[in-house]
Amino acid sequence: MKGVLLAGGTGSRLYPLTRITNKHLLPIFDRPMIAWAIEALVNAGIDEIMLVTGGTHAGEFLRLLGNGHAFGIDRLSYGYQENAGGIAEALGLAERFADGEPVLVMLADNVMERSIKPMVDAFRAEPQGARILLTPVEEAEHLRHLGVPVLSTDGRVERIEEKPEVPASHFGVTGIYCYDADVFRIIPTLTPSGRGELEITDVNNHYVDRGEMAFDVLEGFWGDAGESIDAYYTVNDFVRANGANRS
Ligand code: DAU
Repeated sequence: MKGVLLAGGTGSRLYPLTRITNKHLLPIFDRPMIAWAIEALVNAGIDEIMLVTGGTHAGEFLRLLGNGHAFGIDRLSYGYQENAGGIAEALGLAERFADGEPVLVMLADNVMERSIKPMVDAFRAEPQGARILLTPVEEAEHLRHLGVPVLSTDGRVERIEEKPEVPASHFGVTGIYCYDADVFRIIPTLTPSGRGELEITDVNNHYVDRGEMAFDVLEGFWGDAGESIDAYYTVNDFVRANGANRS
């Protein structure tokens, strides 16, 4: 399975820090944020990766990562997103890279305490449809910033709501997704959301509607370091004390 790391966007919630660099180059404890995301993929056995970024600091990724070998990547490709048109748009740039194979997609501002290998292995065993990773979240205020699944009484995902005013469950959808190659046929059918972006939640709902959406629940800490300046420091404090991506 190939990996797609999404590291574009404007990072506006971390202004003014992100006026001088890309969000995913900001430090999390002792290394740039992107390095934790790469470690998550490499630990899950994914060593062929495409990094998609944009904006005015894209060249810094090449300076940091080079050919990727020092980070455990066998083959590293780069994609450039001209405008921050959404997560699904950024993923669409990886179509030729994927070349018909299933992909593990990760938003590079997500940081996990535990390895994502169990989820990746589950998709490798049945590489059809889509598979998402949920995390338990208690506070409704936090859930209003995330994708939130509506779960049926028998534990299926019935729908995913993006940043709902009234969250339908106590789970957030993390930025780690497995897709079969059909995802590249779904993306061109999407239309921009209210915030003018092609939404990954719309991609996921396509798979839900087809009855092809599986999920796992992540154990341990999960954080979106780009959600707010407080979230950024919560992730920093956690990783400094506990590390990340532990098996
Ligand atoms: O972190 C998990 C959440 O990520 C999910 O619960 C939501 O369902 C999902 O929509 C997403 O929400 P955010 O509002 O946090 O997404 P954000 O705009 O911060 O983008 C997340 C990552 O995707 C970010 O690290 C950079 C990348 N990205 C984003 C955009 C808008 C791109 O590469 N290109 C883009 O155009």
